[in-house]
Amino acid sequence: MPRKNRFLHVLLGILLGTFVSVVFVARHRGSSMCLPPAKTVRRKHLDPLELIGVNNNSLEDKHLLFVGVMTAAGYLDNRAETVYNTWGKEVPGKIAFFSSEGSYSNSIPLVALKGVDDSYPPQKKSFTMLKYMHDHYIDRFEWFMRADDDVYVRTDRLEVLLRSVDSRKPWFIGQTGRGNTEEFGLLALESDENFCMGGPGVILSRETLKRIAPYLEDCLRNLYTTHEDVELGRCVKKHAGISCTWSYEASDYKQMQVILYHNQSGSTAFTGDLKQKEVHKAITLHPVKQPQYMQRLHKYVKGLKIQSLSQESVDLHRDIASSMAQLNVPISEISNADLAKNMKLFDEEAGSDDYLGDPTILGIPPSYSRFRPKELRDVLDWEFINRTVFSAKDLNPKRRIPSSMREGIDDILREAMDIINQYSKQRGRIIDYKDIYYGYWRLDPKYGVDVILDLLLVYRKYRGHKMTVTVRRHAYIQQTFTGIEVREIDINQPYTEETNENNLPFHEKLIKQISRISSNLQLTDIFDSSSSNASKKKRINFILPLSGRFKTFKRFMDVYEEVCIKENDPTTLIIVLYKENLYDYEESLGLIENVQMKYKNYDIKTVLVNETFARGRALQFGVETTNQDDLLFFIDVDIVFNAKSLMRIRQNTIQHFSVYYPIVYSMYDPEFFGKKYDIDDYKLFENESLLNEDNGFWRQFGFGIVSLYKSDFIKLGGFNTTIVGWGMEDVNFYDSTIMSRLKVVRSADPGLIHVYHPVQCDNDNNLDNNQRAMCLGTKASTFGSLNDLQIYFLKNKHLFS
Ligand SMILES: *[C@@H]1O[C@H](CO)[C@@H](O)[C@H](O)[C@H]1NC(C)=O
Ligand SMILES: *[C@@H]1O[C@H](CO)[C@@H](O)[C@H](O)[C@H]1NC(C)=O
Ligand SMILES: *[C@@H]1O[C@H](CO)[C@@H](O)[C@H](O)[C@H]1NC(C)=O
Ligand SMILES: *[C@@H]1O[C@H](CO)[C@@H](O)[C@H](O)[C@H]1NC(C)=O
Ligand SMILES: *[C@@H]1O[C@H](CO)[C@@H](O)[C@H](O)[C@H]1NC(C)=O
Repeated sequence: MPRKNRFLHVLLGILLGTFVSVVFVARHRGSSMCLPPAKTVRRKHLDPLELIGVNNNSLEDKHLLFVGVMTAAGYLDNRAETVYNTWGKEVPGKIAFFSSEGSYSNSIPLVALKGVDDSYPPQKKSFTMLKYMHDHYIDRFEWFMRADDDVYVRTDRLEVLLRSVDSRKPWFIGQTGRGNTEEFGLLALESDENFCMGGPGVILSRETLKRIAPYLEDCLRNLYTTHEDVELGRCVKKHAGISCTWSYEASDYKQMQVILYHNQSGSTAFTGDLKQKEVHKAITLHPVKQPQYMQRLHKYVKGLKIQSLSQESVDLHRDIASSMAQLNVPISEISNADLAKNMKLFDEEAGSDDYLGDPTILGIPPSYSRFRPKELRDVLDWEFINRTVFSAKDLNPKRRIPSSMREGIDDILREAMDIINQYSKQRGRIIDYKDIYYGYWRLDPKYGVDVILDLLLVYRKYRGHKMTVTVRRHAYIQQTFTGIEVREIDINQPYTEETNENNLPFHEKLIKQISRISSNLQLTDIFDSSSSNASKKKRINFILPLSGRFKTFKRFMDVYEEVCIKENDPTTLIIVLYKENLYDYEESLGLIENVQMKYKNYDIKTVLVNETFARGRALQFGVETTNQDDLLFFIDVDIVFNAKSLMRIRQNTIQHFSVYYPIVYSMYDPEFFGKKYDIDDYKLFENESLLNEDNGFWRQFGFGIVSLYKSDFIKLGGFNTTIVGWGMEDVNFYDSTIMSRLKVVRSADPGLIHVYHPVQCDNDNNLDNNQRAMCLGTKASTFGSLNDLQIYFLKNKHLFS
């Protein structure tokens, strides 16, 4: 009986690199990749070996596996081609497709079987294909797989499996079926007979195919049922004397169902979340009915492969570091260490393309003290997880486990359980995950994530003294971060209208979009804003709704004059001025006139409105004065901005592609806690160190400040102008952006500061309940920092009792 409280230490470094990469899906249609299209007539009679690219004369040219994919004339240029271009390219051996007589394709190696049609069930196709495989390829391969065009195969894992089995023996490997009791009679199987289910793939060793080949026609003439896989099973049993493997190693009675995985949900299988135990464990996955989901699955599997290679790289770095430590080379000197005289450990200089990674970070052995804080405030907090998350540093100290953390923990658990079960077979036991008792979690931005979990597990011993008990175990897990990898692509494609783009295949569209982003991103702008050439900049149309607030407007105009007019930045200011407060109205008009007099050539438009103020309507009036291809920026009079924020607006807003929703920094009420600064002096805000936790907060739930193109604004349906009073129209608009095909760029922008002004949530503003709740929430969040509020509370406890 396993002792309780014996800690199981699982220390693993799962790698979380951030890979920014673009997958270009190669299309070989019509290309001369495999077969020259000019020789179409001769191609039909292509030599079988030439067809699959095997050297005719040399028997040396031997391969592990031949895959025959059964397809049909209607699926050649979608399913079959997708199989060929995804996992088909990675078969440890060769692949060919088998279809009906007269089928033709110039993009895949195709055998059009004589006398075979595309009728279902495909018994004749299957048996004829096996005969063809035998007659032409039997001496060239160790294994033969019969696959459908809707199966996905993880070829690297299949190779590992096949290399672990003695291929000289007769084998018939697949997911075993006997039909249910009801079907069993209908299938006419003897009690010792079974079959390998066709869907997830069936694999025959050479010996098996040799034994059945002479009888395939005979078997086909004497079918008992219409089930192609059942009949193959019967034929194999009768003439090769073997059944479908129940399992390939006796202890894992369920294994074939796991590694040759068939999902019952039909055409929706593998269209949802792929992060599932079944997907991770399988070698073949069935059925994947639509090519785009095959592509997606392929990309997902590639991602898993990248992860495991990264893990391997971390392990190697750790080995290097510990070996070097034996030679008394500290980790900080490994990059430039010599193994012997004139023999560097790493050939390449750190920083060059061929340099092998980063030993100073990746080589550090897993430990919870990799990061050593120097000051108290650098100490990393642990968060406690127990159904909910408890944290000291979050504004909301007890909250639901956020979905990102949930997903991270699920990932960790999957890996941890794999490690725990690594030697299950040898030990005759299996350990299943049941629940998390509790856990701790912390993020170290330099090295990675640390997790401690107290797990509830079920221990099942199936060999020897059988038993099942529930046990608790601790798992100590560390995820290591690598650097960010960026791949630059240089595409000099000109900008095209979206209307033309809609017809493009997905990957080409993606590349067009990326080239547009990179052309918007003028790198010199990022590093040196002074070098940018004003005449190349896109004009920004500021739309400012204004009702009352003259004093604040004065400050806004000062900023505008300083940042835009004096710098000659191409901008237009459109002020939608409401006549609700006559004094402010007159003063504002006067101010606008003054600025216009001062800068005669400068473009300032005013739209005068005589009705009750509503922000959505006001912006709509402003938009109406602009043109289809104009870049719009919706701003509030409380916002102070600078040149860098204009740069970010231009970079992040791309017509037909993205809408920029900056997160603005929002000042707390300076007077509430007696902070002394003059909010009308905008120069104050040039000092970015002002933007700390005590003076304000990032307004994550504000969506009113937006930049986008007018054409996109119209496509999104504009604002809901029936909404009156405070807010809501911006939230609705944000929702429709998310649901559209446009991308949302959302990021904190330190160049946009919302200067404090008191929020009014009075009922004379016609607020409905929703608006009022949001308004009060916003108001409460502007009082002061959590720190100040806490001090205030402690000082004035008596007021709260
Ligand atoms: C497999 O089928 C089940 C139930 O039919 C479904 O819930 C699950 O999402 C499917 N798995 C995959 C990977 O599609
Ligand atoms: C976790 O929460 C449950 C229920 O809220 C509680 O009974 C249990 O004691 C908690 N566990 C720990 C370790 O705090
Ligand atoms: C800016 O670009 C325009 C046209 O592209 C060019 O005529 C002008 O000389 C450039 N100005 C500077 C300062 O580089
Ligand atoms: C503004 O509207 C009010 C009420 O609708 C009206 O009395 C007033 O004459 C209008 N003013 C102008 C300048 O249109
Ligand atoms: C606009 O807002 C009103 C009031 O909130 C709502 O009843 C209406 O359904 C909205 N219209 C659209 C098109 O969203």
